[in-house]
Amino acid sequence: MRIPLLDLQAMHAPLRAELDAAIAAVLDSGAFVLGHEVSAFEAEFAAFCGVAHGVGVANGTDALILALEACGIGPGDEVIVPAFTFIATAGVVSRLGARLVFADVDAAHAGLTAATVAPVLGPATKAVIAVHLYGYPAPLLDLRRLLEPRGVVLLEDAAQAHGARLHGTRVGGFGRAGCFSFYPTKNLGALGDGGIVVTREPEVAERLRLLRNHGRRTQVEHLTPGVNSRLDALQAAVLRVKLRYLTAWNEARRRLAALYDALLAPLPQVTRPGVAEGAEPVYHQYVVQVEERERLRAFLAERGIATAVYYPLALHEQPAYRSPRWPRGSFPVAEGLARRVLSLPLFPELPEEAVREVCAAIAAFYAGGSG
Ligand SMILES: Cc1ncc(COP(=O)(O)O)c(C=O)c1O
Repeated sequence: MRIPLLDLQAMHAPLRAELDAAIAAVLDSGAFVLGHEVSAFEAEFAAFCGVAHGVGVANGTDALILALEACGIGPGDEVIVPAFTFIATAGVVSRLGARLVFADVDAAHAGLTAATVAPVLGPATKAVIAVHLYGYPAPLLDLRRLLEPRGVVLLEDAAQAHGARLHGTRVGGFGRAGCFSFYPTKNLGALGDGGIVVTREPEVAERLRLLRNHGRRTQVEHLTPGVNSRLDALQAAVLRVKLRYLTAWNEARRRLAALYDALLAPLPQVTRPGVAEGAEPVYHQYVVQVEERERLRAFLAERGIATAVYYPLALHEQPAYRSPRWPRGSFPVAEGLARRVLSLPLFPELPEEAVREVCAAIAAFYAGGSG
């Protein structure tokens, strides 16, 4: 594709010398799991999020499952997740043996709101996982107001939203814990898998440190059954380098998203991303909603423009979760998004000229150029 969806080489090439030096330093240190690089990164990333504690883990999925456990959620507890998100958000609930409950999402920003959660909230609800999908913050203040008096735990799945802000504050610190993935394509990506949980609460952080490392307190003493979900020193060293650029990269994404917004505004057939009140997205994806999605995709592909669909099915439509509990039509907004969402090329190094070309091609499609 002439205009790819994303280009990690373009991101890494200018950092090559810094990355090489960081990797070499870890090789020389001989410390490969946890250790100095990991604790330094944990502190730096927690500070970036404006919270006191960060606990590095092996990936974003583990961040979610360990955060649930650290907040006391276990088998049989009811956990609400959006019906439209990456499947890991729901998978962790099932893997924990907790009872999964889906809620519909908001049509504009594709996240949970107090209004979409309220109808499925019940006396058995123990936790809600709000997802900042595509890097658009979900409106958590209303949600927190709904959950707090009921003693329901709010967790943030911020895997796609490193650095996004809500009412001026970075996401990750609104709930009891914020979970991030460092999968290479994320706004902050490792050179492999990685994840972190950030939290304001020292007890939650302490429990996470135990759980991620076999419940180990000292070399010989294990306080609780845990798992091996540690962050590698090599990944932490790479992430420390890349964290220094994250704010500039997010700014570049926002500039390009604003350009998309302006150029697509005249097209009534294209619904642009909606932004919740007080939210500053970081555009992990620039996602429009269109009818005739497959024909538009083919039209763009013929012109060398890559697109993607995240996600073509709502979670209750996935084979893993099909159930008489959730017949078709149960979550109409999620189902509609799955039919209409389309990710356009967006990454910090994408030239503005490419955005103009993508928008011109979309305009040509709707002007009848498709036939
Ligand atoms: C919304 C969301 N949640 C959870 C995850 C899981 O993260 P990981 O792939 O690092 O396990 C991802 C990313 O893949 C994600 O996009």
